[in-house]
Amino acid sequence: MKIIQSVAQMVLTMQDFRSKNKSIGFVPTMGALHEGHLALVRKSISENDITVVSIFVNPLQFNNPDDFLKYPKMPEKDRLMLENEGCDVLFTPVKDEIFPPEYKKSFQLGYWDTVMEGAFRPGHFQGVARVVYRLFEIIQPQRAYFGLKDYQQFMIISRVVAPYFQDLKILGLETVREKSGLALSSRNLRLTPKQYSQASQVPELLKKAADMLGKKTLQEIKEWFKAELSKYSELRPEYLEFAHADTLQPFVEGDTPSKYRVFVSFYAGEVRLIDNMAVQ
Ligand code: PAF
Repeated sequence: MKIIQSVAQMVLTMQDFRSKNKSIGFVPTMGALHEGHLALVRKSISENDITVVSIFVNPLQFNNPDDFLKYPKMPEKDRLMLENEGCDVLFTPVKDEIFPPEYKKSFQLGYWDTVMEGAFRPGHFQGVARVVYRLFEIIQPQRAYFGLKDYQQFMIISRVVAPYFQDLKILGLETVREKSGLALSSRNLRLTPKQYSQASQVPELLKKAADMLGKKTLQEIKEWFKAELSKYSELRPEYLEFAHADTLQPFVEGDTPSKYRVFVSFYAGEVRLIDNMAVQ
């Protein structure tokens, strides 16, 4: 596996692959890799000649400085995991090269940035869009892979960022979960055992909430969910929303529930977690 830090070297390496007609699959990450990331890497390896993984903890997408500082970092373990999977190139750029002072690109995110994660994390998606655009520009992949745990991010990247790049396909892979049901997240590493076990109850509650859609009013479902979470001393709900899978528009009473997904964000201790699933 090649490990490349410099942007110039990355551009040259990618040009070389392209000149040999190699297809390039790309998995952008912030490191602290887990099975969810590895599922993306495996998918990319199965669909492309060359798989590139980037590890860059993007300061622009952290609206909370403490979350940025405490974001888990384990470069050596990440490198070994990627090598084991058969990743071809690991790109580990530095901030000054990803965001040079002359890099001014910004995006009109519109409605997507006003709901759920957009509403609770001001500036987050602008930061995500800016880094992903820059990485696409450098790597110019044919395919890029994202986990659907960050469903809203997936929508914004597919609909707003990717259209700037011809022939780029964005693929979303279902959330990988622990046996307990908890969605894998690098932030899970920050949970105490008690927080971990309490957070593991949330996916089941989310599924129950999804099953109520169309049978109870939104207000009843939200109140029920809040009351359930309040039984756990370490958990604090932030939002529970039902949004259309293609538009993220809120649920309209009377509409077909299966067009929607249920989205949650909550705190376990100080750690903010998100999850979502399709309404069946
Ligand atoms: O999903 C993530 O890990 C990040 O938001 C991403 C896409 C790597 C951009 O920094």
